[in-house]
Amino acid sequence: MPEPEFVVTPWEVRGEVDYDKLIRRFGTRKITKKLHRKVEGYTGEIHMFLRRGIFFSHRDLDWILDMYDEGEKFFLYTGRGPSGHTHLGHLIPWIFTRYLQDVFDVELYFQITDDEKFLYHPEFSLSDTNSFAYENILDIIALGFNPEKTFIFNDTEYGKTIYRLALEVSKHITFSIVKAVFGFKHSSNIGLVFFPAIQAVPCFLPSYLKGKNIPCLIPASIDQDPYWRGISRYVAPKLGYYKPAQIHSKFLPGLGKGGKMSSSEPETCIFTTDLPKLVVKKIMNAYTGGRPTVDEQRKLGGEPNICPVYQYYFFLFEEDDEKLEEIYKTCRSGERLCGFCKKILSGRVKEFIAEHQRKREEARNSIERFMLRD
Ligand code: TRP
Repeated sequence: MPEPEFVVTPWEVRGEVDYDKLIRRFGTRKITKKLHRKVEGYTGEIHMFLRRGIFFSHRDLDWILDMYDEGEKFFLYTGRGPSGHTHLGHLIPWIFTRYLQDVFDVELYFQITDDEKFLYHPEFSLSDTNSFAYENILDIIALGFNPEKTFIFNDTEYGKTIYRLALEVSKHITFSIVKAVFGFKHSSNIGLVFFPAIQAVPCFLPSYLKGKNIPCLIPASIDQDPYWRGISRYVAPKLGYYKPAQIHSKFLPGLGKGGKMSSSEPETCIFTTDLPKLVVKKIMNAYTGGRPTVDEQRKLGGEPNICPVYQYYFFLFEEDDEKLEEIYKTCRSGERLCGFCKKILSGRVKEFIAEHQRKREEARNSIERFMLRD
């Protein structure tokens, strides 16, 4: 088989991702201008992540909103695989989830898959992934979710409730299905083979706990789609639940040349726990779309489209569309040089991280307010 030009799976993102192709490959739908306008009807304005196409794809979002209009509120479900510290890329779906919770005033179920990361990484013990889970939970709480309506749980600690539903799910999923969806091999451990049933559980959990059917909307990056497409949506009707709807985000690039931000390349990755000095250093060392010399750059202009520094403004650090456009234009014209551009960005990121770290410390006192226990 020829090597595909890019790969997106829950465990690996490789190559230059073509998001339109991915929509076709996964069979999802593009978020249209019409849907933007519908969302705008509730919010008064349209979130930067939608405006800029950072959340770009969905399944059944129109249905979720129609149900909402008819008085049937949905709940949100998202999650985190605790394999290390949180980085800026992880925050994107979470920031958007917080926004959706605010706008629609709905409950959020937040799954922390310490079991998955234990099973996947040969080097991690259960206590490793469980302590990462609690580190990551601080970042989640720091984003300001509503404590009355947010329920966070670690799979290994909420097992009594999850297990029953996971059994219900797993009885309908054959080995051929998981193999086709996730590419498991004979050498894959059987924990991982069972795990997709666990990730499906929160799609139905509130319906199960409350004894009535509640629509589910999952904000997540697009790499998680196989879980919903292949497992949750497939079993939902068999168990008598609604199929979960999704809204999918793109990946924040790393600070190196190409590729998404990934913890396996810490120098190109900004962790929420990095010291401010380190944040500045990482940004000042970032790859850019600049030219080898100032003269050439003045003459030819920079290339914002391939520049992670520009992407950081685009994704998180310049909310004003006109100012973003200005950055783009002055880069293209050769007026704005990389050193300056990085300096402004690093100031903003440093400030953001400092504020986040303050809230993260505060969060230590409120963990139990958010945790769902058996
Ligand atoms: N498997 C996800 C990861 O590795 C964690 C996760 C569990 C998740 N449930 C989710 C992510 C729901 C998004 C939405 O990060």
